[in-house]
Amino acid sequence: MNIFLETYGCQMNVADSELVRAILVKSGHNLAKSVDDAEVILINACAIRENAYRKIYGRLDAFRPLQRKMKQDQRPFIVGILGCMAQNMKATLFRHPVVNLIVGPDNYRALPSLINKAALPQQGKRKPLEIEANLSEEETYSGITPARFDGVNAWVTVMRGCDNFCTFCVVPYTRGRERSRSKEEIIEEVHDLARQGFKQVTLLGQNVNSYRTDGAAFADLLLAAAEVQGIERVRFTSPHPKDFPEPLLEAIASHPKICKHIHLPLQSGSDRILKLMDRTYTQDEFIRLVEKIRAVIPGVSLTTDLITGFPSETDLDHQETIAAMEAARFNSAYIFKYSERKGTIAARKYSDDVSPEVKTKRIVQLFDLQHEIALELNREKIGQTMTVLIEGESDKRPGIQIGKTDGNMTVMFSETGLAPGEMIQIEMTEASPSVLTGRNLDLTVLSF
Ligand code: 5AD
Ligand code: SF4
Repeated sequence: MNIFLETYGCQMNVADSELVRAILVKSGHNLAKSVDDAEVILINACAIRENAYRKIYGRLDAFRPLQRKMKQDQRPFIVGILGCMAQNMKATLFRHPVVNLIVGPDNYRALPSLINKAALPQQGKRKPLEIEANLSEEETYSGITPARFDGVNAWVTVMRGCDNFCTFCVVPYTRGRERSRSKEEIIEEVHDLARQGFKQVTLLGQNVNSYRTDGAAFADLLLAAAEVQGIERVRFTSPHPKDFPEPLLEAIASHPKICKHIHLPLQSGSDRILKLMDRTYTQDEFIRLVEKIRAVIPGVSLTTDLITGFPSETDLDHQETIAAMEAARFNSAYIFKYSERKGTIAARKYSDDVSPEVKTKRIVQLFDLQHEIALELNREKIGQTMTVLIEGESDKRPGIQIGKTDGNMTVMFSETGLAPGEMIQIEMTEASPSVLTGRNLDLTVLSF
C-alpha cells in the first residue's frame, strides 16, 4: 500500500519515524510523497504537552473530506497514530472517526501486519480498528537499520525509555522502562553512517546519559563514537543533570570531536517546586554542577528546558527560577508553560492551579530574560573565529548558508560554494539572541 508518514515532536520521534520507514519498506509497502497519494496516513505524534494533542486533532479533522472521497472511489483509507500520543491517549483517539490504527512506540515491528489487518473489509463494524500499544522491557529495534534521508547529521537512538518519573512527565508511561542498545551495535551503525557520508551523529535517548550496558558507560560510548573515522562531530541529547559523573565531563573535554555543548534541563529554580517535580537536585546543586562543567569544559555551551506555572508555583518560586537563570547563564532555553498530562504523578496529586494569565506573564518574563542573556553571550563571540559545520542554504534568504558551531549555535554567512557537511572558519560579525552572523575568512576546507 502507499503510506504517508508525518512526524511531530522531539528528535526521538524523528528517529523512530526512520525506523518505521525501514520496517514498512522491508515489508513491501511504498512510501507516498504526499497525503493525496496515500491510502494509509500515519502520524507519529508527541504527547508531552497539551498543544501537541490539539494540533493532531486539527490534523485528523482535516482528513475527513479525503476519507469521504476515498470511500466514494471505493479505495481503502487508513489513518494511524503512532508514538507517545498513541500510547497515552489511545482511549480517546480511537473515538475520532478517521482513526483506524493506534500503535505505540514499542510495537512498530507489528505495523505491517496491523496495516494489512486494518485494510481488510470488516463487516458490521463502524470502522476497522487495530490497536497495539504494549510497552516492552526489551524492545530496542535491534537489527533494523533506520531509513534516513541524506544529510549532515544522523540521529542514533542509543537507549529508550526513562525510569526517572519526574512528576510532570508522561514519558515513563509512553516510552516505558530504560533499556540500552549494545555498544558494539551502536558503533557499527556509526561506522555505516560515516561510510554513507554523514559527518555528525547525535546520540539519542530520553535519558541518554543513563546509558549503561554490562561493559560500557555513556562516556565510553561517546568516546568510541568520536573515534569513528569520517565522523567529525558527536553530540548527544537529552540528558538528566543527575548523571554527569566526572569521567563523562572529562571525556567531553578531552575529545576534539565531542561537541562542547550540554543540554542541561533545569525545569525550575525553586527548591520547593523541584522537589514536587521529583527532579532530585536543588538550585544550589544544579548551579554547582554548571560551575563544575564550565571548569572542566572551558567554553562549553549550556542550554536548558524550563517549565513555568507548575502546580502551586508562587511569585517567589518564579523569582527563584529567574535567579537560577541569572546564575547559570544558558546559551539558550526551551521554555514551556506547565500542561497537565493524563496519568502523570502531578496530574494525580496536584491541581493545575496557576492561571493561564499568570503562566503567560511568567513565560514572557523568562523569554525576555533569556533573550537578554543569550544576546550578551552571543555578542561576546563577535570578532572570534569559529569552526562551522555547513548544514545548507537558508530557506528564507537565498545566497545565505547556514551552519552550526561546536556549541550548537546557528551561524549565517554568505554562500561559500562549499557543500553541506564541510567545515569552514567563520569570523563572527553580528549577533542576535539566536543567530550569529559571520564572514567567511577564506574558502579553505578544513578537513577531508
Ligand atoms: N508540561 C510542560 N512542559 C513539559 N515538559 C515535559 N512535560 C511537560 C509538561 N507536562 C517539558 C520539559 C522537558 C521537555 C522535553 O518538555 O521541560 O524537559
Ligand atoms: Fe520525563 Fe524526567 Fe524522564 Fe526527562 S528525565 S523523560 S522529564 S521523566
